[in-house]
Order: sequence, then structure tokens, then C-alpha cells
Amino acid sequence: MSSRAPQPTLVELAEADRHRPRFHFVSPAGWLNDPNGLTQWDGTYHLFYQYNPTSALHSRIHWGHATSTDLVTWADQPIALVPGDEGPDRDGCWSGVLVDDDGTPTVVYSGRHDERELPCVATGSADLNTWIKDPGNPVIADYPDGLDLTAYRDHCVWREDGRWRHLVGSGIAGQGGTALLYESTDLRHWDYVGPLLTGDASTGTVDAGDWTGTMWECVDLFRPPAASEGDGARKPDPVDVLVFSAWDAGVTHYPLYWSGRYRGDTFEPDRLHRLDLGGRYFYAPQSFRDESGRRVLFGWLQEGRDDEAMVAHGWSGVMSLPRVVTLGPDGALAQAPAPEVATLRTDEQRRAAQELGPVPLGLGEGDQRDLELVMVLEPGASAVLVLASTGDGEEATVLRVRRDVGPGPGGTVALDRSRSSLDDSVDRTPRSGEVPIGADGRVDLRVLVDHSALEVFVNGRALTARVYPTREDATRATVAAETGAVELLAATSWAMRGTWDGPRPLYP
Ligand code: FRU
Repeated sequence: MSSRAPQPTLVELAEADRHRPRFHFVSPAGWLNDPNGLTQWDGTYHLFYQYNPTSALHSRIHWGHATSTDLVTWADQPIALVPGDEGPDRDGCWSGVLVDDDGTPTVVYSGRHDERELPCVATGSADLNTWIKDPGNPVIADYPDGLDLTAYRDHCVWREDGRWRHLVGSGIAGQGGTALLYESTDLRHWDYVGPLLTGDASTGTVDAGDWTGTMWECVDLFRPPAASEGDGARKPDPVDVLVFSAWDAGVTHYPLYWSGRYRGDTFEPDRLHRLDLGGRYFYAPQSFRDESGRRVLFGWLQEGRDDEAMVAHGWSGVMSLPRVVTLGPDGALAQAPAPEVATLRTDEQRRAAQELGPVPLGLGEGDQRDLELVMVLEPGASAVLVLASTGDGEEATVLRVRRDVGPGPGGTVALDRSRSSLDDSVDRTPRSGEVPIGADGRVDLRVLVDHSALEVFVNGRALTARVYPTREDATRATVAAETGAVELLAATSWAMRGTWDGPRPLYP
């Protein structure tokens, strides 16, 4: 008999990790990436996700599945899709979507085999728990003729004028990322229409805001509801958005979107935007329209630690909180955590309205927090929030919001992670970008800290990141004025209840 202690299981490792979020969705253990098949079906929300239950690394991807009636507390369901022993998805069931085919839940996903992906279909039982793969898979047997493609995967499928339309994310060699459009009457036989829109990979940088990568993953076309709808204001002209995750081997990957107009067989782009200023920390998003008509978006919060650390902790990957997306008055998407997230709040602490100075004002302590601040910044002023900080500041994550000098609207948000962790193997690179600040100088700030997961919303713009402080006491939050006059109109902070009570089976 061996006297060696038994090896901890993946689930035990994951549960013991203090960096594991407690009110974000995470897989039971193992690897998680993209949200898939998002839907609200007969009242119940379904979240499928890219899942490897056997290790904390990306390999032989399954579709995990969880359901919710409130968008914040989730129940694990049986794994929905498992790579076949043979067939076109034997190396992985990659990302895809769920559609309602005249009452039959149907998923369109990318089957992976021999280092490439092809579209596959499966139909579900009424509870969406049992899935039968179509014997005709792959439903598109090859790339379109005459195109030299660098990749071909991920799907956006919708019903329009009595037929199905379908975008596949792709990249054309020597040109750029693209979304290839198809049409069908039965989801099984597809006619190729052409590229809906193709980017130019030869120009641009992420920082300049004109880079779109060599391949577009997870394309998602929709018309966002206007933020002002229903309040009697003049209806703005409709705007469509094409969301994609821009990818470039060896360079970077980043969630972006074009605003413009969907014109049937083409998309007329107007402006290119960053979907989340955290870049790869909010990657491969997918959205859906829920039964109340809201456009709800989830994204994958990648890890900022290396493979070795992921394996050591038995899990990897966090799902964002659900975000409600609307079209802002400036023609860009406005994002906010779904109101349901606020049901997890407890232990409210309020700070009196006041003029902020250089002395930090405490906003509460803890590693599961929700903070809501309303401030007015004079031109050139900046406010600084210190998060996940130790009392002596040895570890601290610093968020700055600055209003531009001069009368024009505008400002920036910047996340400094250089002191976020004493562990120098974790990513501590900064993140920043532009945020709209109106002539009144008002800044509505929301910060959600859930152990290593950080989601920030500034006037509707999102910045997501991961932080891994080493010290147990890196739990403080403060706010101060750094430059110029900053008036605090309101500051409230809450502890957030966890949504997971304990170990969950890897194969529910
Ligand atoms: C995006 C992505 C998709 C692909 C899936 C594989 O993160 O690379 O393009 O379908 O993940 O897990």
C-alpha cells in the first residue's frame, strides 16, 4: 500500500483557490472559455460554454451548460455536447449559437477535426439537456470556393424574411478578418452569399483604434435597443452593430465592433469601437435578446496567470456578469451590469456627498464588492480609486478617471496594475481608453470586484481585467481627488453574496 497522500482533485484545487470568483459564473473546475448558445427558453436562461472538464487547459472542448431563472444564480446541467469518437467534431465542439427552429432548440457550432473547423448542427430536448447531432454534419462541408481563408469558425444565425441567415467568422489571407454570409431554409443546406464585411489587416494598431486583426472570431450581428426608447425622446436612426473578436496570431486579440447599417448582403460600417477596454480580458462575447426584449451580453474573462498556475489551481476562465447593452446617444454601445446583479448586494455602506480631496475616503473592505459612485469632475480633474489594496499600499490596483482639459466632452479611464500583485508571474500591464464625459462633468462609475475578477463601468463604457493580489489583506477600496475639483455626489458600497455554495461535480 502506498503511503502517499491522495492527489487533490481538480474540484478540490479549484475550490481552495482564493482567486476564484464567487458571484461570477465559473465552471465546476477545469477550463472555461467562450459563452455559447445563449438563450432564454420558456422563461429559463441557458448559458452554454466552452468547457474542458479534464484539465485547466484548452483541449478537446465540450459544451458545458447551466441554467438560471434570475441571470445571477446558476444550476449546472449535464454537459450538452461532447466531441464525437469519430465525425467532424472529434477534436472539439467549438463555439456556436442556439436558435428556435419552429419550436425545436437547435445549436449551430463549429466541429473541430484535423486542425480546422466546419459548421455542425444538433437538436435538443425540450429542457435543452439532451442533444442529438445531425447525421449530416458538417452541414457545410468545405470553405467557399475561390477564397484563401486563414480560419473559418463561430456562428451568428438568425431568421429573416422566412429564411435563415448565418455568419461564419473568418479571415481572408492577405486581406483581413471577415464575416461570411450564408442562407438556408432548413439550417442543414446552406447557400454561400459572400463576405458581409472584410477588414484591412495591413493597417492599424490597437492603440490608434483602427486595427481589426487577421481573423474575426465570434461574429455577432444585432440591432441594439436605443437607451432613450420609451421616454418620448425623438427616436434616433437605427444603428446595427457587428461585434467580433479580432484575432492576430502573435500580435493580440481584442473585442471590437463596427456600428453601421446591415443592408441585407452587406454591412455598411460607420465607426469602429472597442467593446471593452480590457481587451482580451473580455473576449469572445456573445449576446442574445431575452424575453423582455433586452440585449444581454456575456464575455469570457481570460486568466492573467500562466498555464502552470492554472494547472496548479485546477481551473481557468470566468464568465462575465450579464451586461445589458443599449445604443447610447453618441451612437456607441452603452453597457451596464444587468439590474439582477444588484439582488446579490448586502451590507450597504453610504458616504456623504462631499468635495473630494487628496486624502483617500474609505469605501469598504472585502474581496466580493460592488461600488457605485457618482462624481462631477471639472475640466482636467481626475479621480483615483484604489482597489484590492493592502493598508500599506504594497499591493494596490489603481483606477483613474480623468476629464479632458477644455470644454469638449470626453475623458479617459486607466487601470494601473503595476502594484496589483507581488507575484511577478501574473500579467500587470495597464489598460486604458476613452470614455464619454458630458459638458456637466458627470461620471457614473460602477466597480465590481470578485476576487480575481474586476469589471468596471464608466458612463456606459466597460473595462474588464483580472488581478491576483498575494496578500490576504489586499481588500480595501478608497477614492480621492488627484487633480482638480472632484465633487462626490453619492458613493455606495456593498458586500456581494456568493452564488456558489461549495464543490460542484465536473460532469453534472
Ligand atoms: C474564441 C475561440 C473561438 C473558438 C473557441 C474554441 O475564444 O477561439 O473562435 O470557436 O474559442 O474554444
